[in-house]
Amino acid sequence: MNGYKIDLYLNKKSSDGSIMEKVHDYKLQLQEHEENRLNILKKSPLCSACEREVRILDRYSGEKFKALMFGSNNYLGATVNNIAIDKAIEVTKEYGVGSGGVPLLTGTNIFQNELESTIANVKGFDDAILFSSGFTANIGAIIGLIRSNNLIIHDRLNHASLIDGSLMSGAKMMRYNHNDPASLEKILAENHENYPGGILVVTDGVFSMDGDIARLPEIIDVVNKYESILLIDDAHATGVIGHKGSGSLSHYNITDRKNIILTGTLSKAIGAVGGFITASQDIVNYLRIFARSNMYSTALPPSVCASSTEIFKMMASTDVVDRLNRNANYMREKLKEKGYDTLNSETAIIPIMVRNEVLLTEISKEFLKRGIIVNYIFPPVVSPGKSRIRVSMMATHTKDDMDYFLTILDEIDRDYKIR
Ligand SMILES: Cc1ncc(COP(=O)(O)O)c(C=O)c1O
Repeated sequence: MNGYKIDLYLNKKSSDGSIMEKVHDYKLQLQEHEENRLNILKKSPLCSACEREVRILDRYSGEKFKALMFGSNNYLGATVNNIAIDKAIEVTKEYGVGSGGVPLLTGTNIFQNELESTIANVKGFDDAILFSSGFTANIGAIIGLIRSNNLIIHDRLNHASLIDGSLMSGAKMMRYNHNDPASLEKILAENHENYPGGILVVTDGVFSMDGDIARLPEIIDVVNKYESILLIDDAHATGVIGHKGSGSLSHYNITDRKNIILTGTLSKAIGAVGGFITASQDIVNYLRIFARSNMYSTALPPSVCASSTEIFKMMASTDVVDRLNRNANYMREKLKEKGYDTLNSETAIIPIMVRNEVLLTEISKEFLKRGIIVNYIFPPVVSPGKSRIRVSMMATHTKDDMDYFLTILDEIDRDYKIR
């Protein structure tokens, strides 16, 4: 092993404290990355749709090669759904490629309204607002509602956009142990009297790096006991868990939406791009104005909205979500049987723990050589010592695809001892 280590903390600690030193330090790392012919900090681009089998343009050799995709958020194969594509073409021809304005000026179109109602309906809320991404939806929800006199309590593994929105709000932030309602309750008990203005509790519905599901029934009990508000990010739950993929609340048959706000994305299972907040009518009306990443940002293109609506219809009318979960369960069971550590994954995201960062960098080359794309996750995206291969399953994977992946993994494991 040549010992090359990816260090993603270089933006935090510049050796001389200057603005540009960080940039310089990173430049040196990137040079080493390129000398090692890696595909982690910079990517060889796809020259095909992002589906189960892709074509890659190798940026070192200039050659094209085929690979099996086990790293995409395109869980349902929606990016290449023919009905969605036809709809996008038809709507683009009539309505153009962009929306032409921010939602509150000239950007609101009928396809946006239709998609907002569809999302609210699927998620069981009154109404929804669209955003240009899930990231900006999370920021918008938090900065719209939270001020510096509030407290925000996060699950330790929440997504970066939720943390950034919290930092922007100026509120104090605390973190509870991952998916641990008792740890949340302890923080609420100790702090709720100091925050008469209110406390926001925030959790991913499905955790993006571990693939486990938030323990919502117990979290909601605690949130209600301390009269707080709960924000759930259903980015990786939408199209994946719950009845016909309707998400984390449906997964637990939770029907009461009191004190709950939910966000999500159109860029994962829905296969397009964009994000949303769905909530009670009063909250949605308020956030249309005060979620600054909605109010001050151009509305989604009509075609994106129209094709996303088609995917929500497809989720409801086909067995695509079941197919995804059958594949994810097959893969997870096989990995567990073989003795790989997949943490508490229950969804389409399956971590395979490697832990050693240098080893993980080496392994990445081996997968690529054998035509498999997966993601390699390093600190600070996960805690030090928790580096991993992150497998993302798709409804369109075949048994042969999965068996090929498992064979290659075992082959790599023989040399690198992942188990
Ligand atoms: C949990 C979670 N929330 C939000 C986002 C952001 O969504 P988008 O990619 O639409 O900005 C992501 C995507 O990485 C995510 O994993």
